[in-house]
Amino acid sequence: MLTGRHFIEPDDFTLEELDGLFSLAEKIEREPEYLRDSCRGKLLGVLFFEPSTRTRLSFEAAMLRLGGTCLGFADSASSSAAKGESLADTVRTVACYADAIVMRNPKEGAALLASRYSGAPVVNAGDGGHHHPTQTLTDLLSIRRIRGAAGNLTIGFCGDLTFGRTVHSLAKALSRYPHVEMVFISPPELKMPPYITGRLAGAGVSYTETGNLEAVIGTLDVLYMTRVQRERFFNEEDYIRLKDSYILNREKMGMAKKDMTVLHPLPRVNEIAPEVDADPRAAYFRQAKYGMYVRMALLASILGVVC
Ligand code: NCD
Repeated sequence: MLTGRHFIEPDDFTLEELDGLFSLAEKIEREPEYLRDSCRGKLLGVLFFEPSTRTRLSFEAAMLRLGGTCLGFADSASSSAAKGESLADTVRTVACYADAIVMRNPKEGAALLASRYSGAPVVNAGDGGHHHPTQTLTDLLSIRRIRGAAGNLTIGFCGDLTFGRTVHSLAKALSRYPHVEMVFISPPELKMPPYITGRLAGAGVSYTETGNLEAVIGTLDVLYMTRVQRERFFNEEDYIRLKDSYILNREKMGMAKKDMTVLHPLPRVNEIAPEVDADPRAAYFRQAKYGMYVRMALLASILGVVC
């Protein structure tokens, strides 16, 4: 039962609970009438202290498709945070109005803190460079829909593995599935942080680290590309030096397996050339759509309209 539960990081739900969400998301996709209006009268607080397109709009679309309503802000400059209000007080207040809260915040740990003060379930829509568990739901559902299951695969994570919260959450989640090999492809400055590699080592997950995408692309079943996270850099020069470390193009796709799946949480900047979009292996826009279905499943579950 997910009713009333917070979702701060992927480990908060068991594999069975995740599986239940994916099955529900698939049912919602197959049967658009199912759960329509099930959340009538319910309110979702949408608190975005950082920019977003897909996460915020897919949550809002999910809530509206379930018959509920959203209230909140997409820019904290228009909230009392701009007057110096603490996050704890903002969340306590919004929980008086809303049945659940979805929050994105630039500070690592912000969602966990919010969950301690909120009278309503809190969903982490990204806390700084730490975690992004609902993107992981999106990614795991995409892998399941495209490849059949999340286990038994070699997945490459490429780009900014230091600041990219989506890769932290996805690697952590995949460490619970059987026979997953991970290949971390990044410049030395942007390697996967020790709190993730330590977790993988502890779970007996096999991973390798390299700087060379061409050398490993032919071994991958899934390639998860990421943007270099400009907003988390301390200085612009480092960002400029590192931003184009990897550009996936037609030539590199030619070195990959015929059935490799390319995922990207989006937004992309330069790391995937637009010429790759027409390749049937490019799945990132399908992935964005799965994100809405799985967020519908999540909201319906934590709001208690399905078991
Ligand atoms: C990601 C994020 O916000 O971490 N975007 C998203 O939610 N789909 C990835 C990114 O911004 O690079």
